[in-house]
Amino acid sequence: MTKIDDIDTLIRPNIRNLKPYRSARDDFDKGILLDANENSLGAPMRHNQNLHRYPSPTQNELRKKIAKFRHVLMENIFTGVGSDEAIDLLIRIFCEPGKDAILITPPTYGMYKVSAAINDVKVVESQLNREFQPDVESILGKADKNTKILFLCSPNNPTANDLKRTELLKLVELFPGIVVVDEAYIDFSEQESMAAVVPQYPNLVVLQTFSKAFGLAGIRLGVAISSPPVINYMLKIKAPYNVNQLTAETALEAFNHMDLINFNIDKIREERDYLVEQLSHAPTVEKVYPTNANFILFKIKDAQNIYRQLAEKGIIVRYRGNEPGCQDCLRVTVGMPNENLRFLKTLKEITS
Ligand SMILES: Cc1ncc(COP(=O)(O)O)c(C=O)c1O
Repeated sequence: MTKIDDIDTLIRPNIRNLKPYRSARDDFDKGILLDANENSLGAPMRHNQNLHRYPSPTQNELRKKIAKFRHVLMENIFTGVGSDEAIDLLIRIFCEPGKDAILITPPTYGMYKVSAAINDVKVVESQLNREFQPDVESILGKADKNTKILFLCSPNNPTANDLKRTELLKLVELFPGIVVVDEAYIDFSEQESMAAVVPQYPNLVVLQTFSKAFGLAGIRLGVAISSPPVINYMLKIKAPYNVNQLTAETALEAFNHMDLINFNIDKIREERDYLVEQLSHAPTVEKVYPTNANFILFKIKDAQNIYRQLAEKGIIVRYRGNEPGCQDCLRVTVGMPNENLRFLKTLKEITS
């Protein structure tokens, strides 16, 4: 098991020794503010929102709010420009370009590989098994001292299923590096978030986002939940004002609307289950995979052709047939009830 003292040994030496950028706002944020070369006369509009000022570099108020909601401490929370920023920062903190590697479990979210490639970091793959669960033995067999981060995604994109909690826990215990569990879709699932065990495992990083269940993809806010050493390194290397004022205010406001957020989650689950049932009875659909997310993966004869025909009729889904284990598969997001009906009707027209 990776101990808290081991985290430092996993960090790239240049990051460990980095002297971070500091602004006067790290120390003072009240008074006559003549420190940051802002436009003191104000923004051209939305005067009450202080938009002529740089936002908080630490976002403590927002981090506290998220921490309370996820039952952890502010010191366990990093906020970034989408979880995509967190993925990139983690690779930059732990992986030496041209030397180190990340381990991914295809079929999975595409950005882990892209971020690794941007950073000249190798990618080792251990395919999910036929039930789209991780093969713990294969993963551990492929890990060595240069395989710094294991990326897991639960519920997994594009397959939509939860990775079993027992397997996730085994991997967090046994993987000799950082284990990232990307929980972008966790609020649609019944499985408990791995955030609950962050205090026990200093090498665990849980990623969450405001883009899915919170319905706020447009504000670009992602969250990493981890041990304070990992969070401190993320804060150390991020751009000084990564989360902007409008994003922070909108996210804080969202917490006043939890009733609607929860209502919409229930509605999406209901619509999802309806879509699953309807797709299961559709004649050319060969398989509908179990889903714990706000989308569905299904196998259909001649998937690429169906994908194109749907698009010609104005219904855009995602062709996932090129992903390992997903031959002839399409991924469809749960839409508005009328959109779901249109999708089902159009699919029926194309295939009958
Ligand atoms: C598994 C997974 N992680 C992360 C993201 C990106 O999230 P964000 O919008 O917070 O960058 C997505 C987006 O589709 C995703 O599917």
